Amino acid sequence: MSFDLASRLAARRAEHLYRQRPLLDSPQGPEVVVDGRPLLAFCSNDYLGLASHPEVIRALQLGAEKWGVGGGASHLVIGHSTPHHALEEALAAFTGRPRALLFSTGYMANLAAVTALVGQGDTVLEDRLNHASLLDAGLLSGARFSRYLHNDPASLAARLDKAVGNTLVVTDGVFSMDGDLADLPALCATAREQGAWVMVDDAHGFGPLGASGGGIVEHFGLGLDDVPVLVGTLGKAFGTAGAFVAGSEELIETLIQFARPYIYTTSQPPAVACATLKSLELLRTEGWRRAHLNRLIARFRAGAAELGLTLMDSPTPIQPLLIGGSARAMEFSRLLRERGLLVGAIRPPTVPAGTARLRVTLSAAHSEEQVERLLVALGECRALLAPEDDA
Ligand SMILES: Cc1ncc(COP(=O)(O)O)c(C=O)c1O
Repeated sequence: MSFDLASRLAARRAEHLYRQRPLLDSPQGPEVVVDGRPLLAFCSNDYLGLASHPEVIRALQLGAEKWGVGGGASHLVIGHSTPHHALEEALAAFTGRPRALLFSTGYMANLAAVTALVGQGDTVLEDRLNHASLLDAGLLSGARFSRYLHNDPASLAARLDKAVGNTLVVTDGVFSMDGDLADLPALCATAREQGAWVMVDDAHGFGPLGASGGGIVEHFGLGLDDVPVLVGTLGKAFGTAGAFVAGSEELIETLIQFARPYIYTTSQPPAVACATLKSLELLRTEGWRRAHLNRLIARFRAGAAELGLTLMDSPTPIQPLLIGGSARAMEFSRLLRERGLLVGAIRPPTVPAGTARLRVTLSAAHSEEQVERLLVALGECRALLAPEDDA
């Protein structure tokens, strides 16, 4: 008996689903060098342009000089250092919640929160378009797991009727592949009627959304009672790395005691926490980044609509263009690349079959001229594509 990996890989290629990693040979930013070629990129999640900000870089350097490089141990042994603690306090203040807990990645924060809160005999209900880490967390938890129709409170209510035990309703705040917002006011009200808790992963909302960048809960004016479990990631608009869960004192103590992805891993390098403290300050105080980003979003949407491209219902920097078939999306992306633009084609299984898309993402670091360049190239490439025949 042997593992037939070659056939698996060949099948993946035949379905136009084979993944390759572009090699980035420059810092993150609008103008990058990828696979040896300068390109104008519209595919990072560095929404506020902080990943390569000189002050954030300096904070990391100073942090490394003061605290060394490695976290050295898990938080519960001797890896919980002063910068980690200061960042948790700053994130609690930022979110207006009693406490926040720092994680090394968003994937781990999601696994940690769900598996610590529900298990056998409980129920976890998730939006069917949730991020993979949330879906994996639901499956791993051992709780009864069911997915409701995308952003549909009625579909959620039908599942809540059948729920057993402690029930956790889990949703992305901003859906990562569509860019739309969870209808949190309605979803939270529905959950609350049945005594269920709501957990929101706002990986893509912190930074771009809310008057001070406080994400979807700030956008909708929701508090701890509506969303007891709030997750943010730090590798996107914050421009650094890691993630946090913000909530009540009891929630955070529960995670520290019971969340295996928190307990059994080395803390992130403390210098990264120093860098995030700086990027949090910039995110809060430099409101012009959000304002500029919103202007770019409006311009891109107007321009893409004029070209007759299929936009999705997104008010966020995630502006996918629906293409349909995987081969066609790949070809579109390739044509753009020939013109010096990098836009990722997102295919199943990351998105549902037949909904392959170009995932355009905008950043405050982009200029208006760069967005115009993208629009011109999109128009040219679309004209070159064969009519849709492979969706
Ligand atoms: C909605 C969402 N949640 C969680 C994650 C995972 O976060 P991290 O990259 O920090 O593991 C991502 C993407 O990376 C995401 O898009």
